[in-house]
Amino acid sequence: DRPLRQLAADDRLRVGTAVDMTALAEDAPYRSLAGSEFSSVTPENVMKWEAIEPRRGEYDYAAADRLVRFAERHGQKVRGHVLVWHSQLPSWLTEGDFTKEELREILRRHVTDTVRHFKGRIWHWDVVNEAFNEDGTLRDSIWLRELGPGYIADAFRWAHEADPRAKLFYNDYNIEWAGPKSDAVLDLVRTLRAEGVPVDGVGFQGHLGIQYGLPGGVAANFQRFDALGVQTAVTEADVRMIMPADDEKLRTQAEGYRLLLDACLRARHCVSFTVWGFTDKYSWVPDTFEGEGAANILDETYRPKPAYRALQAAL
Ligand code: XIL
Repeated sequence: DRPLRQLAADDRLRVGTAVDMTALAEDAPYRSLAGSEFSSVTPENVMKWEAIEPRRGEYDYAAADRLVRFAERHGQKVRGHVLVWHSQLPSWLTEGDFTKEELREILRRHVTDTVRHFKGRIWHWDVVNEAFNEDGTLRDSIWLRELGPGYIADAFRWAHEADPRAKLFYNDYNIEWAGPKSDAVLDLVRTLRAEGVPVDGVGFQGHLGIQYGLPGGVAANFQRFDALGVQTAVTEADVRMIMPADDEKLRTQAEGYRLLLDACLRARHCVSFTVWGFTDKYSWVPDTFEGEGAANILDETYRPKPAYRALQAAL
């Protein structure tokens, strides 16, 4: 069997995975597969604000640096994740009592210092993550409340200034198909680019659940973004199910992975397809969605599931 990264290279596509740094350090088969199957990696948690600045002004890039070095040794690109988000913020920030001016300066420094630290070593940055509600209005977050909608353009400008060669992405979930949320993202990206804001790409997270039915129109939706001239990427694919798993659910799951990959392969400017972890041994799903699981392409013992075979066949 040729590894996914080799199959994807024929399509000039990077195939990536989110990496759990504890597993990478402690689990040799995990480490070996992370290096051999994928041509791009995303830190699952260690580049998030709470991880790199747990106390104000005290930066800790050690774990993120380890992943960047791992990637470089394995000929992999790094998707930086994530600069501006409402979640996984340090408590000194969310519980602090700051003026709007102070918060804007705190955000500017966070974006600038982080991007500068990794300058030249990050392929894509997820600059702004999950800024919209399902109805297409902007999410009520500390950033929207305190800084207003302009924080989005500001973040892209600051990131670009700090590393002009990194490709800058807007990233979100439930935007894989056409609807109020993806319409809003399309509109945002079109407007920002018209204003000269350096937005290079849109990341479709790709967190699906088979109990909702698989989405339709995903390829056509990717085309709408492609037509704007921006790059696209599937950034966090996983397809969860209500446990226990059975053969039919695993077949539907495989179709879910396949439709996401197909949409990417059919979009001219879709440059990477990343899974949010590659084994059911380590997954955020059971901890986040009660009673759900088995969302990944390999099982807990690293055996390929139908989903892995589907990706292999489609590449
Ligand atoms: C998740 C991680 O997988 C978990 O380990 C963590 O506890 C919470 O965050 N969208 C994103 C990712 O952009 O950063 C999230 O990752 C999953 C949803």
